Amino acid sequence: MRLVRMLAPAVLALAFNQLAVAAGSAEKGKVAYVKHGCWQCHGFAAQGGVTGPKLAPNPMPPEAFAAFVRFTNGAMPPYQKAILSDEDLADIHAYLQSLPKAPDYKSIPLLNP
Ligand code: HEC
Repeated sequence: MRLVRMLAPAVLALAFNQLAVAAGSAEKGKVAYVKHGCWQCHGFAAQGGVTGPKLAPNPMPPEAFAAFVRFTNGAMPPYQKAILSDEDLADIHAYLQSLPKAPDYKSIPLLNP
């Protein structure tokens, strides 16, 4: 019983955290993606650029995405909460998730003479 009482807040915090990360708005995320300069390295359509890899379609899961963006210590600068809010981060993820896959080249007549 004591254990349940001790663990309940942690379980709740985890559940709500996941909700907070998952409940982004793709529309606002598109704006946040541009505002925070992600496009400078990853391209306007998140297709990848000279410096940054492609981020869409199929971005990494929200938790991994948030952890990477906040704590990366490689070639990409980390974005802490003070400059990129949790809300903007979740919105950016939702935007990346909303980007469609490129069509199969076999469905494009011009590429299949
Ligand atoms: C100054 C250039 C630059 C900017 C600006 C930038 N990134 Fe990156 N990003 C990189 C580079 C370079 C990598 C690969 C580095 C690595 O793997 O350590 C990367 C990797 C990533 C990855 C991991 C991709 C993968 O598949 O491993 C994510 C997610 C990401 N960036 C998201 C973002 C978001 C979101 C923003 C805007 C808030 C942003 N980046 C802004 C350069 C940048």
